[in-house]
Amino acid sequence: MLSYKKSTKLLEVIKDYPGITEYLAKKSPKFKLFKNTMIVQLMAPKMTLNKIAKKHNMTFEKLMSMIDEGVQSGKIGNGEEFKKNVAYANNVKEQVKTLMKALFDEGKDVKEVKEKFKEIVSKANPIIIAIAESELTKEGYSIQDLMKACDVHLELFKDQLMNSRKKISEDHPLWRFIKDHDAMMLWFEQGLSTARDMKSRNGYDDAKDLTEKLSATMKKLKSSENHDIRQENTLFPVLEKYGVEEPPAIMWDEHSKMKEKRGKIEKMISEIPSMPYDEFVNYLQGAFTYLVETFVKHTQKEQEILYNVALDVLSKEDWKNIKKESDKLGYFELPMEVLKNG
Ligand SMILES: [Fe+2]
Repeated sequence: MLSYKKSTKLLEVIKDYPGITEYLAKKSPKFKLFKNTMIVQLMAPKMTLNKIAKKHNMTFEKLMSMIDEGVQSGKIGNGEEFKKNVAYANNVKEQVKTLMKALFDEGKDVKEVKEKFKEIVSKANPIIIAIAESELTKEGYSIQDLMKACDVHLELFKDQLMNSRKKISEDHPLWRFIKDHDAMMLWFEQGLSTARDMKSRNGYDDAKDLTEKLSATMKKLKSSENHDIRQENTLFPVLEKYGVEEPPAIMWDEHSKMKEKRGKIEKMISEIPSMPYDEFVNYLQGAFTYLVETFVKHTQKEQEILYNVALDVLSKEDWKNIKKESDKLGYFELPMEVLKNG
């Protein structure tokens, strides 16, 4: 009999039996999430066997006997695909690490590093980037520092976001979620560009038209909160039901952080002119830069990871329910620019 405990992490089992998740996915449709080896890689370090059993409506003992049966019969493969992904993520991680060392420790030319970094990010799968990023954080490296030093983040991630998105038909609930993202992106960028324009004005009186423009943008962004609410109440719980817990939790947390930042901007606008104009404009620029950057990466994670996993594991019935619940919660108004492009 195997000696795993309830608290044993999935990753430890995979280390002993690399093909275990693929085996379970074949064994029972309950484990169809395990077909997605990338998501397994993302979740395996944290997920315990007990949690897996619970999520799949079985006792820990039953799960153990399924694993044991696989071991005894010799039918657990060697997890080729999983191993390939791990090697791939490690490779990306090592490449990024080498770049960081070159830039921060050896004082290499930023330009050269930047080109290489761009190449890595544009070629690699975003899930792999996310995995490499979290591995690097564990080792005390921050990919954020590298992005800042190279000043590449925004455009690069945005291009990738637009190029790699899935074609979804208009009647699918994901279509609306993606359109929502486009609208929000547009408004965050509008906010940033208004904040930049304000820099060339001489004070609150001189910038009245711009602060009004900003208020209008903030109102639209506030209306878009409805997107987060819709996701948090329809898509996330269903994903959690299938055992996909960590990614929605991360998204949820990012929603809260962005909401908080937006709230601060709203408050400052409502209190004009409670602080010196320059200070106000500087704050706005910083806040909108943060929002645009966070939002691009957030959206990328949702579209590349969350939605793909959802398409893999959710049933027709689930999607029907998501649509029904979404209709109940309602939608914010999409701008013409967004509706126009397909
Ligand atoms: Fe989101």
